[in-house]
Amino acid sequence: MTLLVTGGAGFIGSNFVLDWFAQSDEPIVNLDALTYAGNLQNLAALQGHAAHTFVRGDIGDRPLLDRLLAEHQPRAVLHFAAESHVDRSIHGPGAFIKTNVEGTFTLLEATRAYWSALRGAAREDFRFHHVSTDEVYGSLAPSAPAFTETHPYEPNSPYSASKAASDHLVRAWHHTYGLPVVTTNCSNNYGPYHFPEKLIPLMIVNALAAKPLPIYGDGQQVRDWLYVTDHATAIRAVLAGGQLGETYNVGGWNEKTNKEIVLTICALLDELAPSAEGPYTRLITHVKDRPGHDRRYAIDAGKIERELGWRPAETFDSGIRKTVQWYLANKDWVANVQSGGYRDWVATNYSVR
Ligand code: NAD
Ligand code: TYD
Repeated sequence: MTLLVTGGAGFIGSNFVLDWFAQSDEPIVNLDALTYAGNLQNLAALQGHAAHTFVRGDIGDRPLLDRLLAEHQPRAVLHFAAESHVDRSIHGPGAFIKTNVEGTFTLLEATRAYWSALRGAAREDFRFHHVSTDEVYGSLAPSAPAFTETHPYEPNSPYSASKAASDHLVRAWHHTYGLPVVTTNCSNNYGPYHFPEKLIPLMIVNALAAKPLPIYGDGQQVRDWLYVTDHATAIRAVLAGGQLGETYNVGGWNEKTNKEIVLTICALLDELAPSAEGPYTRLITHVKDRPGHDRRYAIDAGKIERELGWRPAETFDSGIRKTVQWYLANKDWVANVQSGGYRDWVATNYSVR
């Protein structure tokens, strides 16, 4: 038995792989292109681990996919690889179409060819697990009910549109070809190894460097936050027991405004790493809003709880404290990801705000 994981050097993928080996000896072949967001340092704890095979490569490389599938005969493909940052998708949508749409298409086709040739239990038990986002559903009014799996797709950013397209491809490959797929649509994750271009790690890292904490617009946008290892347990539950062709919403039952998130991080840093200059809230600045900024996401994770018994283990209070502590204890990781390319991104995104 083996899993083929794509994007396993990114934030969620690496947390999934680490969590997997904390519970299982089943091998993982980890295919990742190591874009700016991929980082082998996330997987340093697995160095020399016989069951972990890392392959640097692109999900759009069909010959490579065919070779890996033939060689390793996985029982499942877990598809995390994607371009994942909304702001980058606004500045340069092409990479999102290339990886999220075309790459997912190529992966589906390679998987279909492999699965079609399987026989007996290997064919019966095979799964293609597509990891997706709640952003495909669009934006909610303040008092509207949270997204269920039947909410219409109304993506608003190039990122969410590319993920929506990939979800549709996965659905069609099941409906048309019978490929045994499951899809999870998860809310905003946070935790260790989160690249500091996203809200939570950016605020922690900037605060510690006494840099401004840039809140887009009024900061009253709402996201639902899930600690990343809870996402890993949800994926394991769906892989093990999810119904073929079904989608499962995954969320933390934690709706927070961006302003609340930033204030919470400031308060934790005041407690754990106080600054001689005064409270970290002094660094908060309101900057120009993101174009097309979705106002509110909220996940109804009732289906996965009813059908598979999954609920998040972390509360927001416990998860955010662990996260801040992790960044305080891993300043080398932060320094290493703040490469030249990352500095260029900061100039591109924030100089116009
Ligand atoms: P990430 O940007 O941190 O990591 C993405 C990984 O994919 C990187 O390691 C990168 O090198 C790799 N990759 C990118 N293009 C590739 C390609 N063409 N071929 C092979 N590898 C490639 O992203 P993440 O936050 O870990 O997100 C993982 C998945 O979860 C994505 O599909 C994303 O849409 C989804 N998701 C993310 C969140 C979130 O809050 N971060 C929430 C819900 C769903
Ligand atoms: P982000 O982490 O980019 O996730 P997503 O856009 O996929 O939800 O952003 C989370 C929220 O934080 C989003 O409403 C945008 C906001 N945000 C800021 O206010 N300032 C920032 O510097 C960043 C990166 C995000």
